Amino acid sequence: MKALVLGATGFVGREVVRQLRVRNDYVVAHIRPGSGQRAQWLERWGELGATVDESPWDATALAAALAAHAPDVVFILIGTTVKRAKGDGVDGDIYQRVDYGLTKVACDAIRLSKLGCRIVYLSSVGADVQARSAYLRARGQAEAEVKQAGVPWAIARPAIITGDREDSRPGERAGAIVGDAGLAVVHWFGGKTLAARYRSTTNDVLAAALLRLATVTPADQIFDGAALR
Ligand SMILES: NC(=O)c1ccc[n+]([C@@H]2O[C@H](COP(=O)([O-])OP(=O)(O)OC[C@H]3O[C@@H](n4cnc5c(N)ncnc54)[C@H](OP(=O)(O)O)[C@@H]3O)[C@@H](O)[C@H]2O)c1
Repeated sequence: MKALVLGATGFVGREVVRQLRVRNDYVVAHIRPGSGQRAQWLERWGELGATVDESPWDATALAAALAAHAPDVVFILIGTTVKRAKGDGVDGDIYQRVDYGLTKVACDAIRLSKLGCRIVYLSSVGADVQARSAYLRARGQAEAEVKQAGVPWAIARPAIITGDREDSRPGERAGAIVGDAGLAVVHWFGGKTLAARYRSTTNDVLAAALLRLATVTPADQIFDGAALR
C-alpha cells in the first residue's frame, strides 16, 4: 500500500505512520510548512523510512503532491483544540477553519488530482451537521465533504482517544475514566453494543483499526467505536 498521511504529526497520525512502516508500506508523512517541530519530525520519519511532504495547505499544491506520490489511500487525521488554535493564531470558529476547512482542502485536492485513491477519515462519535456543538457540526460537514470527494471512503467515529500524549489533556483523560466506568455498568446490564461504541480507545489500537479501513470492503462505510478495536 502507498499511503499519504495528513495529520502525520498528530497523536493518531504518528502511530499510523509508524504502523504502516512496520508493515513496510510506502508512506508519505505530511507536515505543515513552518512547523516548529520540523527538525524532530524529519529525524523521526527518516529513521522510520517514511517520505516527507511539506506542501502548503492549499488544494492546488496538495493536488500536485498527490499526483507526484500517487497514494492508494489518503488518511485525513487532522483537527485542532482551543489551546492549539490559540497557539496557531486561529480565531473565529476554529473547527470550521481547521477540522472542516482543512478536510475540504484535502478533498478538493483529491478531486483536482483525479487520483483513484481511498480516503480514511478520522471523525468523531456524534458527528452531525445538525449538532448543537460547533465541533460535532464541523465534523459532520467534514464527513459530507469526504463523501462527495468522488473516491471510495471509510469514516471512523471513535469516542475519546487516550494514551501517552505529549500535550496533557486532563479533561479528556478524566472524561475517559468516568465515561468508561459508567459504560462498564452499562455493559454489565446488557448494553454491550452501546458500551463498545462509547468506550475510550488508545491511539495505537485506533491506528491499527484505521489501517484495516484502508482496505475493508465494501468501501463507503462509517465505523463506530465498536468496530474500531
Ligand atoms: N482526542 C480525542 O479524544 C478525539 C476523539 C475523537 C475524534 N478525535 C478527532 O481526531 C483528530 C485527530 O486526533 P489527534 O489526537 O491525533 O489530534 P492531534 O494530536 O491534536 O493532531 C492534530 C493534527 O492536526 C494538525 N493541525 C492542527 N491544527 C492545524 C492547523 N491549524 N493547520 C494545519 N494542521 C493542523 C496537527 O499538526 P501540528 O502537529 O503541526 O499542529 C496534527 O497533525 C482530532 O482532531 C479530533 O477531532 C479526537
